[in-house]
Amino acid sequence: MIAPSLLSADFARLADETARIADADWLHVDVMDAHFVPNLTLGRPVVEAIARVSPVPLDCHLMIEDPERWAPGYAELGARNVTVHAEACTDPPAVARDIRAAGALAGLALKPGTPLEAYLDVLPDFDTLLVMTVEPGFGGQAFMAKVLPKVREARRLVDSGHLALFLEVDGGINADTIEQAADAGADVFVAGSAVYGAADPAAAIAALRARART
Ligand code: DX5
Ligand code: ZN
Repeated sequence: MIAPSLLSADFARLADETARIADADWLHVDVMDAHFVPNLTLGRPVVEAIARVSPVPLDCHLMIEDPERWAPGYAELGARNVTVHAEACTDPPAVARDIRAAGALAGLALKPGTPLEAYLDVLPDFDTLLVMTVEPGFGGQAFMAKVLPKVREARRLVDSGHLALFLEVDGGINADTIEQAADAGADVFVAGSAVYGAADPAAAIAALRARART
């Protein structure tokens, strides 16, 4: 699946920008609180408005502190998937339970330096594992290939039946790097600048999809 990140869109034209990625699978929405990451984007009222006009389901990536408090609200507004950061959670299974109870898939995100091993026991409670391939906070950064062993290990656990998860990568994904991520076993690809920075976002999505399959 291809999930364009709205972070690279024109925030003055959000409805139009969602219409430009109607060929995508999910619309990735980065929620930042200026505490968990050194950047501030948008919150529930704006995400709710985006959900009303988006032609594709929302994939909310919460880069915020206290996700226990806020995550269910994003599920309630109709997001398909709501992802919280492992580093910000005190009780990941409880958050997953609350997100699922509110009607969304539950995702767990790991920053580049966070090991998969530390969260193996909680991953059965989640539907999505988001492996960050840049430090969270900003679009347009360079892809960190050194994170891919984490994706490979997660893919091994999924394929051997130990886990059932979407494996999502986020950060620096473009037509060159997507092949490496797909080869490592990712199946959901977030792309901000590679889609919204292109003259024709629909063509960029098609190109990414083709490269992920080769
Ligand atoms: C970064 C965000 C990403 C970002 C990706 O913290 O989580 O979703 O928008 O942007 P690109 O694809 O430009 O790296
Ligand atoms: Zn993101």
